[in-house]
Amino acid sequence: MKVYKIAVIPGDGIGPEVIEEGVKVLKKVAALDKRFQFEFTYFPWGCEFYLENGKMMDDNGMEILQEFDAIYLGAVGYPGVPDHVSLWDLLLRIRKGFDQYVNIRPITLLKGAPCPLKDVKREDIDMLVIRENSEGEYAGAGDWLFKGKPEEVVLQTGVFSRKGTERIIRYAYETARHMNKSLTSISKGNALNYSMVFWDEIFEEVGKDYPDVKTYSYLVDAAAMFMVKQPERFEVVVTSNLFGDILTDLGAALAGGLGLAAGANINPEKIYPSMFEPIHGSAPDIAGKNIANPLAAIWSASQILDFFGYQDLGEKVLKAVEQVMVEKVALTPDMEGTASTSEVGDRVLFLLSEIL
Ligand code: NAI
Ligand code: MG
Repeated sequence: MKVYKIAVIPGDGIGPEVIEEGVKVLKKVAALDKRFQFEFTYFPWGCEFYLENGKMMDDNGMEILQEFDAIYLGAVGYPGVPDHVSLWDLLLRIRKGFDQYVNIRPITLLKGAPCPLKDVKREDIDMLVIRENSEGEYAGAGDWLFKGKPEEVVLQTGVFSRKGTERIIRYAYETARHMNKSLTSISKGNALNYSMVFWDEIFEEVGKDYPDVKTYSYLVDAAAMFMVKQPERFEVVVTSNLFGDILTDLGAALAGGLGLAAGANINPEKIYPSMFEPIHGSAPDIAGKNIANPLAAIWSASQILDFFGYQDLGEKVLKAVEQVMVEKVALTPDMEGTASTSEVGDRVLFLLSEIL
């Protein structure tokens, strides 16, 4: 039987609490389906590890992770360790080191999920945002000159390579073609007169290979407005690192909140492992209370199943998540329930055993 090796990095705060429920779900699916098994290996990396060892992960951490089929991550970052340290030394190190240049964030309003918009039909909010995840505005390029002096200057440079821009846009076209959906590019060519003009040109250029894919192109400010006013405009969306970061938080708010939003960091060539995570942080304000919503972590577990080619199972896990929200038997306080994190996880397992 096929055995998938998963590296689990529960991380900080509510990370371990929600990841535990996701692992429970994956074990249950494997047990019920019987086509494959999972083997989970846990790594204690994160802020506590940093306070003891002066680093966010072991020096040979990347070599160790390289051997796995996927990485399942909770959240990293906690008061006491500066956020730029925890982010760059763990999360971004993995995303960049493993060339996970595609960030996939499904923004789908499931039945029963809270939505802040009035008069919106469930089927209106169903988009797949593909965010460039390796360069752009988050390339970390720039300088800090004359620090602390009156003539102080900082430069934060966006880096858009032809290779980097082409491959994310091509991935998005492939996805849209495969799903038989339209593709919307979001950029800002009027103000960012180098990077985004370049982006728009590549979007058109690559599009010549996909005459069957219907395309739209929006400026990011207009796109933010349309996402709220007419979310049905968007199906598959491709955008840069910074714009994608911001728009997917907006999307998360539209589709049920942070407790429900999942994201996958993909290395499409499968040369390196891909990483799956809920997009929320470590939520220090509710950590340790067993009230964090595990549904985002469970949704990202379903993305692991999709990634291994078991879309049928991924869909069923999502069905169970939807069912939990519809029946409202076990929901955490952020969804106006009174259940604990583990009770929600248990309920998903129960529903899965009925669905599968
Ligand atoms: P956060 O996402 O941790 O929390 C924002 C708000 O949403 C809080 O009120 C929190 O209680 C609530 N929340 C988040 N996830 C929830 C869940 N599953 N169930 C119920 N409520 C939930 O963002 P914040 O407070 O800005 O960051 C806290 C720490 O997490 C920081 O150190 C930050 O750097 C880190 N962080 C890490 C991320 C990652 O590992 N990918 C992403 C975002 C933040
Ligand atoms: Mg973000």
